[in-house]
Amino acid sequence: MDHFLYRDGTLHAEDVPVADIARAVGTPFYCYSTATLTRHFKLFDEALSGMDHLVCYAMKANSNQAVLKLMAGLGAGVDVVSGGEYARARAAGFDGDKIVFSGVGKTHEEMRAALTGGIRQFNLESEPEMRRLNKVALELGVVAPVTVRVNPDVDAKTHEKIATGKSENKFGIPIARAAEVYAEIATLPGLKAVGIDVHIGSQLTDLEPFRQAYRKVAALTAELRAQGHDIIRLDLGGGLGIPYERSNEAPPLPLEYGQMVQEELGDLGCEIEIEPGRLIAGNAGILVSEVTYVKSGEGRDFLIVDAAMNDLVRPAMYSAHHDIVPVVEPAAAAEQQPYDIVGPVCETGDTFAKQRNLTQLAEGDLIAFRSAGAYGAVMASEYNSRPLIPEVLVKDDQFAVIRPRPTYQEMIDRDVLPVWL
Ligand code: LLP
Repeated sequence: MDHFLYRDGTLHAEDVPVADIARAVGTPFYCYSTATLTRHFKLFDEALSGMDHLVCYAMKANSNQAVLKLMAGLGAGVDVVSGGEYARARAAGFDGDKIVFSGVGKTHEEMRAALTGGIRQFNLESEPEMRRLNKVALELGVVAPVTVRVNPDVDAKTHEKIATGKSENKFGIPIARAAEVYAEIATLPGLKAVGIDVHIGSQLTDLEPFRQAYRKVAALTAELRAQGHDIIRLDLGGGLGIPYERSNEAPPLPLEYGQMVQEELGDLGCEIEIEPGRLIAGNAGILVSEVTYVKSGEGRDFLIVDAAMNDLVRPAMYSAHHDIVPVVEPAAAAEQQPYDIVGPVCETGDTFAKQRNLTQLAEGDLIAFRSAGAYGAVMASEYNSRPLIPEVLVKDDQFAVIRPRPTYQEMIDRDVLPVWL
């Protein structure tokens, strides 16, 4: 459920007509709902309420300071994967002991920054990283809390670019070698193992792969404890999918996910961490765009809109589906026609949808791409020198620009000419 609904014949974000925001900030823009973000966080928090737990929002999905501040205020932890994300999380008010650091390529500087600023745990992904972190911690005279991200060799049955839990993926340490790695950690004075981490992929629409992975984690917990390791925490990653195509998708709900976690891991007495990103932010955001032209092509009509692949890359990158709806509510009986919906960027890949049925649209009409709150703005670029588009946050009947649209001059001024030109 989200808070982008038609009311009085026009799409609203909570209590604000989307067209009013378009008039105020221009198109295209991202628009997020405070109520939906809050609701989604709480669904997870409640789904795990029977266990000691922390929901660590995977901020890679949407890292605007306002979204982070909202999450921090709700009591969330946060999953970061870079020094930049760490800095953003701290700036938004997350305490160090609520920050989990994931990622396969953490640098010396990133480790140093997190150890100095405060950290809940590092999720280690390789032995070289383990040794590096030990060294950095010793240099600083501290002990770094760690988990090892294990690769359970489970097929997440999702898009190949976002599956991470198969043995051929770059992520984690093969689960069969985990005991060896924990044994080495026990010899390193700069590290203290506190738990196990696993994340098998994103946009999972079936609980079974999670269940298989978590069963392996439960077995590993028992094995490591028998070897004398203090496993007090299990980080179960993110990955629960959302319905992108509402007419025919119904992925499991956080509540069902929570029940499954309880079944598989509830009796281990571990603190449970999860790292959801998409489910919290995805359906809490839309991308609003205006139709620039309607162009008749060979046997098809194109809607050329003012948003492009640089603003929302998911369709071009993963052939992802986003529901597209007109901002003015179509009459129930209105006829539909197929359109190819494309942006103005000079690439054929700048196609949002092919032969998508919509009611007739004309120049100047507004449309909204649904489910664009996660992996939308954060993956945008300035390709074709299109400045990053604004982000707006709605709360009840108010809205605020939470990242303004840069002017062309601001974009140009970031370049610096060398002395010889
Ligand atoms: N934890 C780790 C270690 C991750 O790598 C990810 C996502 C998450 C948590 C959050 O997963 P989520 O709950 O959002 O599924 N750009 C792609 C998605 C990439 C996901 C990368 N890792 C997309 O637009 O579909």
